[in-house]
Amino acid sequence: MTPPTTVLLTGAAGGVAGFLRASLPGYGYRLRLTDLKPVEGAESLVCDLGDADAVRAAVRGVDAVVHLGGIALEDTFDAVLEANIRGTYHLYEAVRLEGVRRVVFASTNHAVGYVPLTGGAPIGSDVPPRPDTYYGLSKAFGENLASLYADKYGVETVSLRIGSCYAEPRTVRMLATWLSPADCARLVHAALTAPDVGHTIVNAISANTRAWWDLGSARALGYAPQDDAEVYAEALLAAHGPLDPADPDARWIGGSFTQADLHGPERRRHP
Ligand code: NAI
Repeated sequence: MTPPTTVLLTGAAGGVAGFLRASLPGYGYRLRLTDLKPVEGAESLVCDLGDADAVRAAVRGVDAVVHLGGIALEDTFDAVLEANIRGTYHLYEAVRLEGVRRVVFASTNHAVGYVPLTGGAPIGSDVPPRPDTYYGLSKAFGENLASLYADKYGVETVSLRIGSCYAEPRTVRMLATWLSPADCARLVHAALTAPDVGHTIVNAISANTRAWWDLGSARALGYAPQDDAEVYAEALLAAHGPLDPADPDARWIGGSFTQADLHGPERRRHP
């Protein structure tokens, strides 16, 4: 595909977008930014994903969308429904109506959070959804919506099942799940430029020595990760100790999110 030049970042005030705002211009992209919150930038719009007309206006004239906006932790079903389910529907309707051909969708490990880590063999991006929270469920919906719009309308999407995208890994679990900011940019660039992706789901992590995720489908897009969380292993293990095999972080892809209650004040607690 012709490389997109103008790319809309939803969720532009968020953490991952902060990394991409710094890195994607270096790949030649011009960015348009939207979020619920005001964001500084040459082309920046306040836009609630719940407002279909505003989302359509935000999408108008861009070549591609990197859809990061929404609730990024567990919340009430109604909150997740509005921001992540209805909001992502509005985004896909907007790209269809405005003729945008490519979306990169920020999915999550929590779409497959109840997949057990017991097998030993690397886990591919072809495992079906097994969400651990309403949040994970909403991302599974987003992946399926992307599939529908690819088949029905030819809107292509790469869904990134992101592990943990932070400046540095913060926990022992993140020695497996870390996606470095620089690798995040490499992966998003590959996802924006690879030809004929239809709807492709990829695992989104760095080249981590302790990874339990397979990166085959991401590498097939041209992603060549350069970072490895292992350089942080000694310090993290000294601070936290090794994972107990009974710890949810050692048992399931979604780690402690598998322990979050779906209802009541406990829902945001990820022990
Ligand atoms: P974040 O919470 O820092 O950023 C999300 C942004 O979306 C926020 O700026 C928020 O204001 C905006 N937003 C929320 N509801 C909105 C609405 N109704 N309309 C418009 N904007 C709205 O999250 P982060 O960490 O930057 O994650 C970005 C995306 O990547 C999210 O979709 C998240 O689910 C996904 N992800 C991130 C991971 C990570 O390690 N940071 C791991 C897995 C997935």
